[in-house]
Amino acid sequence: MATRSVSRRAIPLIRQCSVSQRAFSTTLSSRNTNTTSNNTTTTPEYAIPNPSRPTHFGFETVTEQEKRKRVAGVFTSVAESYDRMNDLMSFGWHRVWKDHFVSSLNPGFSPLSSTSSPTGPQHILDIAGGTGDIAFRMLHHAHNVNANPSVRVTISDINRAMLQVGKARSATLPASHQAALSFVEANAEDLSKTRPLQPILSESEQTFFDPATATAGIPDNSVDLYTVAFGIRNFSNIPAALREARRVLKPGGVFACLEFSKADKLPLFNTVYKEWSFRAIPLIGQLVAGDRDSYQYLVESIERFPSQEEFRDMIVDAGFVVAGQGYEDLTGGVAAIHKGMKPRDA
Ligand SMILES: C[S@@+](CC[C@H](N)C(=O)[O-])C[C@H]1O[C@@H](n2cnc3c(N)ncnc32)[C@H](O)[C@@H]1O
Repeated sequence: MATRSVSRRAIPLIRQCSVSQRAFSTTLSSRNTNTTSNNTTTTPEYAIPNPSRPTHFGFETVTEQEKRKRVAGVFTSVAESYDRMNDLMSFGWHRVWKDHFVSSLNPGFSPLSSTSSPTGPQHILDIAGGTGDIAFRMLHHAHNVNANPSVRVTISDINRAMLQVGKARSATLPASHQAALSFVEANAEDLSKTRPLQPILSESEQTFFDPATATAGIPDNSVDLYTVAFGIRNFSNIPAALREARRVLKPGGVFACLEFSKADKLPLFNTVYKEWSFRAIPLIGQLVAGDRDSYQYLVESIERFPSQEEFRDMIVDAGFVVAGQGYEDLTGGVAAIHKGMKPRDA
């Protein structure tokens, strides 16, 4: 499997960089495995989506194409109940993690900005943005905390049903926030093909993005901040998504991921947490959303996701530099934030 071979490869190079941003103020580490002497990036074979390559869907082994289809089915099925279920499953903790994730990124303020003002325009791309929780918080923080109205956020997701719930929710936002938001359908593993959010015309319609219908793509070096929250473990090819993140980010731009992770540094807590996950969550899914299977997949996908260190190594292998250990544990490691910066000279 790609994940294992990635984390075993290359030895980290540690270097000091003169970066003042809080998230990158300590030692930065990077690997030089993907960069040639003239600084162009070569794409390893495992980071090119391959419909017939094996991957996993929860505890099952399936092809990348089959996973994409099944994940689409899961999120189409849970879209309407998604926000309510998040509160029930996490006792509301997902809100605390999301608030912390967004404030740690401090959208609307960039000490790395090449312009004279650190509160200049910013383009934030929220990948797998679903029903909009991260994007809405980003805009709130940029506009209300940093008084920066020139921040725009693109919410992108492979699933139109999730985006449509987000779009409906956005109707309650202030007009200035709504004006700064856009919704696009795209597969995170290939952002060269996107299209604006389409309406859902009938219940039987396929609600996941079909690249054959794409009308545009996200250009190279066009994004200041790339975020992905609770999305990346659902991707069929994570290295491909990381490669795309690096492509669309401007040099100096930041990749930031909030995802479920491993709480195994606290064995007793971990035992209770796993009991809760595997016993209660599918049951709550069945009782509240009438959908046990989708929630069984969600807990299995959390279990299958790489450890904090393995995922950090994948980010470094994709050509990002990371600060310190590269991640921050939340609630004992139940979730973790990973950040990486596209090198200034990329
Ligand atoms: C658990 S939800 C997270 C939604 C939101 N970010 C949040 O934190 O509430 C995962 C999202 O990932 C999306 N997703 C799964 N695979 C994807 C892919 N290959 N490209 C883009 N989005 C994807 C799903 O459609 C779903 O909306």
